[in-house]
Amino acid sequence: MGDRYQELFSHRAQQMKASDIRELLKLVQQHDIISFAGGLPNPQAFPNEEIKKIAVDVLENDAFAALQYGPTEGIKPLRQKIAERMAKKGINCEDMEVLVVTGSQQALDLVAKVFLNRKDIVIASAPSYLAGLSAFLSYEGKVEQTPMDSQGVLTDVLRERIHAIHRHGGNIKFIYALPTFHNPAGVTMPEKRRKEMLDIAKDYDLLIVEDDPYSELRYVGNDIKPIKAFDDEGRVIYTSTFSKILTPGLRVGWVIADPEITRKLTIAKQATDLCTSTFNQYIAYEYMARGYIDKHIPKIKELYGRKMKIMLDALKKYFPKAVKWTEPEGGMFLWCSLPDAGKTDTREILKEALVQKVAFVPGNGFYVDGSGKNCMRLNFTHPRDEDIPVGVKRLAKVIEEELAKAKEYKFLDTAPIGV
Ligand SMILES: Cc1ncc(COP(=O)(O)O)c(C=O)c1O
Repeated sequence: MGDRYQELFSHRAQQMKASDIRELLKLVQQHDIISFAGGLPNPQAFPNEEIKKIAVDVLENDAFAALQYGPTEGIKPLRQKIAERMAKKGINCEDMEVLVVTGSQQALDLVAKVFLNRKDIVIASAPSYLAGLSAFLSYEGKVEQTPMDSQGVLTDVLRERIHAIHRHGGNIKFIYALPTFHNPAGVTMPEKRRKEMLDIAKDYDLLIVEDDPYSELRYVGNDIKPIKAFDDEGRVIYTSTFSKILTPGLRVGWVIADPEITRKLTIAKQATDLCTSTFNQYIAYEYMARGYIDKHIPKIKELYGRKMKIMLDALKKYFPKAVKWTEPEGGMFLWCSLPDAGKTDTREILKEALVQKVAFVPGNGFYVDGSGKNCMRLNFTHPRDEDIPVGVKRLAKVIEEELAKAKEYKFLDTAPIGV
């Protein structure tokens, strides 16, 4: 493409670049490729019939309101229902603290819009959700990533890192946290670490942006309260979504924050889209009010829990011993680390994997500093059950060949998340 408009683009937009991975992953659309690449829910998990029924009822009973613009904050009954549901997670909020957004991606964008000046720092885990990082970078924020292990962010390192940044005059605005079934790492922070993170935020007077799209999708173990549940100072901006428990096509998510923050986000949202689709909010509201949601989530958990187990079994059976991976208790992803001596590059491995008709997301994109080249993210919710072992076997062969080629590498010990 030419650069005819380059001069006209804002400085912000000039920095926005399509990733080369995105180009490679376009090939994944081919039907004969087994893809572990997408971040997609399985269409089998969409409650089509219920949505159809609700849509017809909404048009029969509430068409005038549902087809009209709505309040920027979201329709009141939905905000109330969300507040009630959040109370069950230990988040006590008034409905005025709930802002309905057009997917939690919009929440990340709005948070960046209202909090970040140029060069303001966001602390994020290494790795972190790609489109979250993109939102922060697109408002000219700076992202500093901090290491994780199989229990999420290492809080002692986090504290040291923040201390060092402050000492050097850096202006940190918030910590971006993905404590439950992390995307892409698949790991979950135990309660102790959540409280430690909150303590650190208090000590350094920072906000935490808690991104929680997956916590309803737990297949193993017991629920852990969100960080927001321990927040008694309005320090945590919490966001979640209907994307993984209903359907992403509706584009309905929510934010819970201190009313002063919610007000500011609402003003920012007005300039972005006026309001989230009113019709879709009615659908989300009815889906909750009719109790469908509580009947449907167990079905998704059953489907995804089974797929996760199939993938973990296949990895154990086929993957070379030198490769390590995380063992999630829920969510949609797991994270693999290949032995590395500075030479492994999963972007190169992806090229060969695509020839062998299997795909994944190379780890590199989840870091802002070019690291993660020896890592890959695997999605287990979208492929068909029977395709998972076939795809894992194909991928294992590609990795084995790569490792054999690199026999002279002096492998460092591989930790599941590369710390
Ligand atoms: C961690 C994380 N945050 C936010 C989002 C965006 O979700 P939504 O569809 O609600 O915009 C996703 C989607 O995959 C995600 O994985």
